[in-house]
Amino acid sequence: MKKRIVAGMLVSLMAASMVACGGASDTASTDTTSDTAAAETTEDAGSDDAAASGDLITVGFAQVGHESDWRTASTNSVQAAFSEENGYDLQFVDCDNDSATQIEAVRQFIQDDVDYIVIDPIVSTGWDTVLTECEDAGIPVIVIDRTIDDSDKYVSWVGSEFMNEGLAAGTWLKDYAAAKGISDLNILVIEGSNGSSAQIGRTDGFKKIADAEGWTILDSQDGDFTQDGGQQVMESYCKSYEGKFNVVVCQNDNEAFGAMDAMKAAGVSYGVDKDVILISFDACKAGLEYVESGDINADFMCYPLQGEYCADIVQQLESGATVAKQTFMTEPWYVAEDILSSITYTNNAGEEVTEDLVVVTDAASQASY
Ligand code: AHR
Repeated sequence: MKKRIVAGMLVSLMAASMVACGGASDTASTDTTSDTAAAETTEDAGSDDAAASGDLITVGFAQVGHESDWRTASTNSVQAAFSEENGYDLQFVDCDNDSATQIEAVRQFIQDDVDYIVIDPIVSTGWDTVLTECEDAGIPVIVIDRTIDDSDKYVSWVGSEFMNEGLAAGTWLKDYAAAKGISDLNILVIEGSNGSSAQIGRTDGFKKIADAEGWTILDSQDGDFTQDGGQQVMESYCKSYEGKFNVVVCQNDNEAFGAMDAMKAAGVSYGVDKDVILISFDACKAGLEYVESGDINADFMCYPLQGEYCADIVQQLESGATVAKQTFMTEPWYVAEDILSSITYTNNAGEEVTEDLVVVTDAASQASY
């Protein structure tokens, strides 16, 4: 197998901009820091050469699991981008939401001497030791989706600004409640897998607005980003908080699907002008269909099709180019009703931003992933 060595990584500053999202053209956003990687190969350097000669670039991908529609779309996107046809040999590991399994998968990739390692980290901490092992082995690591917060020993990250998703959801709720004349908000949150950066960012962002507005968050429990998890937490909420809540925030669409089943069984109505305002994240196709029907009031997109960005980073590294340290997906916010056209909030970078709200149509839901 051809051995590729990536060396000379420097941290520098750069700004990058791409455009991406919602199934339209390419999606992506800003970038603040970058690594400069000088790629060096013992044989040839270009992937075109590699594909033509049958010398595939080996990539190990340690995926979170298979917990949601979002995750399925993410897996499909990475597998399509790193296909054999495109010049890659992809080793895919579904880590089934188990951090130990994920670390083990990365160590196996090192043993197998792959050319690149891609990680979607289940949790945001506990990474420095194994990333040091990758670095010592000379294998560049690309992180997608969730962040690693206790090590910078990776070349590049591509994903969503989860804190902004939470801030946007909170701001939308504030403006929506004002527009509807609802002054008393009693909120239940079904969180995503605890310790994941998606859960941390969405929780912190939403809570920031809730604290500022003096809302009551009655409870906030882990639904593990699954439909079953969402249903179980909601069943227990319906018993413990019967008649006491009027907002449910689910940190992904699959949890919302489970929560809807639980509320239906408990005789609680949800959606536009019902007992409960229902907020969700991801905006997958099925999620947007529920927004279109008015069952979910607002859905904040998390864009999963990051495979092509990841493959692009590998190609840049292969050619010795400078790669962006961070690439943020640009994501729309979807709503059921045409009563607010935009929201304005201070984002995680401290900038005041005004973002449009998209009323879901059939075309929008069918265009989603
Ligand atoms: O990390 C992204 C989150 O993980 C998505 O919101 C969720 O659906 C997935 O399981």
